[in-house]
Amino acid sequence: MRIPFIAGNWKMFKTKKEAKEFAEEFRTLYKDTDVRTAICAPFTQLDTLKEAFAGTSIGVGAQNVHFEDEGAFTGEISLPMLKEIGVDYCVIGHSERRQYFNETDETVNLKLKKLLNESDIVPILCVGENLEQREAGREKEIVEGQIRADLAGISADKVASMVIAYEPIWAIGTGKTATPEQAGEMCAVIRGIIEELYDEDTCDRVIIQYGGSVKPENATEIMNMDEIDGALVGGASLIPQKFMDIINS
Ligand code: PGA
Repeated sequence: MRIPFIAGNWKMFKTKKEAKEFAEEFRTLYKDTDVRTAICAPFTQLDTLKEAFAGTSIGVGAQNVHFEDEGAFTGEISLPMLKEIGVDYCVIGHSERRQYFNETDETVNLKLKKLLNESDIVPILCVGENLEQREAGREKEIVEGQIRADLAGISADKVASMVIAYEPIWAIGTGKTATPEQAGEMCAVIRGIIEELYDEDTCDRVIIQYGGSVKPENATEIMNMDEIDGALVGGASLIPQKFMDIINS
């Protein structure tokens, strides 16, 4: 049985003060459910959220990590730094990082190995095609290529503990959600690739989320698709009531 997992991705939104205000309001709305919940926030807000969510089952995630422990990497954050804060999750390979910050399948692979081999932090690996690729009917090929390269050299038991988010780039922040059928189909494709690369048990255990303009109005029908285990939520996770409505759905 896979436990549904709803994660918010705040991207580059919210100051410390705003994060505190969110957490205070969200804690009053949040009821312990059998849905896993987390907020992936900017680095400077991680300790604030860890403190604010202490004693609850709400997880806290980072949005990136470097694959070296330390070094001359100006502007980067390492795994020991994240471990010290006690973060539970880390987004890896988000399309915005691939698009604007030169993230490649090679660096994604190194980061996944770093997290999986040296910590209990659960990676949320993002994959997905852009509009041009979708219109050319290449979405399955693109996502398969990403998964194969991103997971190269990673063992079955590690993959079974991860989260994979299918996020079609054309649906991120655009208000254009993939239809539940499109999202479900691609999540099934990803599960099939995992089965092919590993085995049935790994494919049954890996959590696969959909992400891209998920909101309270469309969350239920997306979550009703068999192969979709949850959502990675951008914009709608910035507002406590909206994020709670998605969890409740
Ligand atoms: P969105 O972002 O929900 O604002 O479309 C999703 C994401 O990028 O994770």
